[in-house]
Amino acid sequence: MVDTKTQYFKIKDEVDAAVLNVMESSMFIGGKVVNDFAINLAAYNGVKHVIPCANGTDALQISMMALGLKPGDEVITPSFTYIATVEAAALLHLTPVFVDVDRQTFCMDIEAVEKAITPKTKAIIPVHLYGHAVEMEKIMAIAKRHNLFVIEDNAQAIGCDYSFSDGSVSKTGSIGHIGCTSFYPSKNLGAFGDGGAIFTNDNALAEKLKMIAAHGQNKRYYHELVGCNSRLDAIQAAILDIKLKHLDEYIASRRKAADFYDNAFAGHEKISIPSRASYCNHVFHQYTLILNNVDRDGLTKYLADKGIPSMLYYPVPCHKQKMFDSLGGTNYQLPITDWLTQRVISLPIHTELDEEQQFFIASSVLKYINL
Ligand SMILES: Cc1ncc(COP(=O)(O)O)c(C=O)c1O
Repeated sequence: MVDTKTQYFKIKDEVDAAVLNVMESSMFIGGKVVNDFAINLAAYNGVKHVIPCANGTDALQISMMALGLKPGDEVITPSFTYIATVEAAALLHLTPVFVDVDRQTFCMDIEAVEKAITPKTKAIIPVHLYGHAVEMEKIMAIAKRHNLFVIEDNAQAIGCDYSFSDGSVSKTGSIGHIGCTSFYPSKNLGAFGDGGAIFTNDNALAEKLKMIAAHGQNKRYYHELVGCNSRLDAIQAAILDIKLKHLDEYIASRRKAADFYDNAFAGHEKISIPSRASYCNHVFHQYTLILNNVDRDGLTKYLADKGIPSMLYYPVPCHKQKMFDSLGGTNYQLPITDWLTQRVISLPIHTELDEEQQFFIASSVLKYINL
């Protein structure tokens, strides 16, 4: 699905030198390299503070802790997402309240969010799924009306530009009270291991997030809050800092690959290509088709036999995962989520795809579907 090896070889000299530099300095945890990366990422994302941490799941958990969410508080989130979004809430004994998604954007249905609000609701967690933004202007308006926090799950959409109706543009992850991201290797900005970061424009919140990620301390061995241990190591920060300089070019390659697929599949009665709302520029972490009347398992196997990977993101929505049975997961009716879960398929998309590979992938998909 990705080709991180070829991507690495294109920047090998730079990366190797940066890693060696960290090794020679022996500053493996924290220090200048991590701080510099946080500053550079903050500038890129147009946000005041970036708090690096160990992974995207921790970023979500630390965010919910910093906002003071308490057991029993409800957080509204889509079910059509990676489990990490909701698992972090469940771990803190918050109650995830699942809403359906929009059939076009795969992102949370805005009207459903407003309907799901109860006196116990404390936060909304929009997920910019596959690299497409949630309609944040509307989410922020709802949050303001009901006095709720917004934590953006930006793990799949780093670099995505969101346009407001007044013409101003912000990066996703910088719009809510907090934004979270993941540097999992296959992500648009991927490390060579695990990593994550938290974004905020709020000074007080930034201090609290930083403390929670560091065992609740802001002075060594003085622990004011119950926190956790969540650090981005210096080797990962050094690599990410180099890759950050290439992020826009990586996004452009992904968008170009998506254009190729779009052209190949456009107008086919059995395939819906990913829609692109005018309020954002899709950064195509995934290229996901909706199949109509196609044997999806058959297609997956047909592609696999030709050496073409494909994935189902995600084969089971969160509300139907066993772990949420006891939290009332089975009581939900989320027809679009269920409908999409049965029909989506993601094709390889990354920075290193060439037209020959894409032609082979697209023509193989079409060959099977037109059989
Ligand atoms: C939407 C979403 N949220 C959260 C995460 C969690 O990130 P991590 O794997 O770094 O913990 C991921 C990554 O896979 C994700 O795709």
